[in-house]
Amino acid sequence: MIDRCGRNIDYLRISVTDRCNLRCIYCMPEEGIRLTGRENILQEPEIIRVCQVMAELGIKKIKITGGEPLVRPRIPGLIHQIKAIPGIEKVTLTTNGILLKKQMKELAEAGLDSLNISLDTLDREGFMKITRRDLLDDTLAGIEEAMKYPNVQLKINCVPLGIEEQNLCEIAEFAHKYPVHVRFIEMMPIGYGSSFTGMSQEKIVSLLEKKFGILFPYEGLPLGNGPCKYYTVDGFQGKIGFISAISHKFCSECNRIRLTSQGYLKTCLQYTAGRDLREALRNGGTDEELKEIIKAALSEKPDGHHFREKVKEDDTESLCMSQIGG
Ligand code: 5AD
Ligand code: SF4
Repeated sequence: MIDRCGRNIDYLRISVTDRCNLRCIYCMPEEGIRLTGRENILQEPEIIRVCQVMAELGIKKIKITGGEPLVRPRIPGLIHQIKAIPGIEKVTLTTNGILLKKQMKELAEAGLDSLNISLDTLDREGFMKITRRDLLDDTLAGIEEAMKYPNVQLKINCVPLGIEEQNLCEIAEFAHKYPVHVRFIEMMPIGYGSSFTGMSQEKIVSLLEKKFGILFPYEGLPLGNGPCKYYTVDGFQGKIGFISAISHKFCSECNRIRLTSQGYLKTCLQYTAGRDLREALRNGGTDEELKEIIKAALSEKPDGHHFREKVKEDDTESLCMSQIGG
């Protein structure tokens, strides 16, 4: 699938739920968001069908995300079925790790290729301040469990907020001690994220270099599906990565589309541009019809985000990250 800007779209991110067991301050309000009724959420066979049609069109990599995907039952079964679709090369999962300890074995057995765990701080108070839940130990237990499965590549994602409770060197230590990549993700001004500025990539690099020595740009084989820029550090087993969508814009290399838990195909994080697939799925649409809808959405995929321009346009997304899947 080549879009009108010549970008090869081979990566689909699927949000399987808008529910979450945390309330990260940059993602959700304290009371949570208004949840979608279950009847409006795509069911497992509907998700599989979208994946089959997408694979026929050229999607090769699929990410399961949320909300928190593991609060939805039977995620290992879903992954197992998606892995069996011809053309799908990799299935990955993003989770906050809270429910991972119990599910990790089944996820690995289902054929999960790689796992991203979100962890913003190793400080218990800081974790409570950011996520509004006292569950740091559960996430750490999830990470520990995940490390028992070396066939599932593990990455830790940290969103720096520029607060003292977030010791970024401590988080980077994971990549020092273990074969785990640690990635720092720039705050995106979406939903509740708009009220935070975060911390610049340059500042994080200088902070880490003071403690660990020089970060060398990594030039080897790609380590994932996305725009992360990786660095190697002497003595580190894993790499340090940066995903800086605003300060180091990568829209010209964008290879992805997103499916919300309600079955809306989104072609850009910032805009509402896209097409509803649920209606066609539930009203007897054929595979060919689904493909036409997907192609129509792709033909309108925006050339990129314009967050820096600060003008709010009518088609700017009003959903928050937990509804889109990041
Ligand atoms: N900007 C960047 N990352 C975000 N996440 C949630 N909201 C934002 C935002 N506004 C991250 C979470 C998690 C992943 C699913 O998305 O921290 O790592
Ligand atoms: Fe949940 Fe992720 Fe949002 Fe935190 S950022 S509240 S873990 S969906």
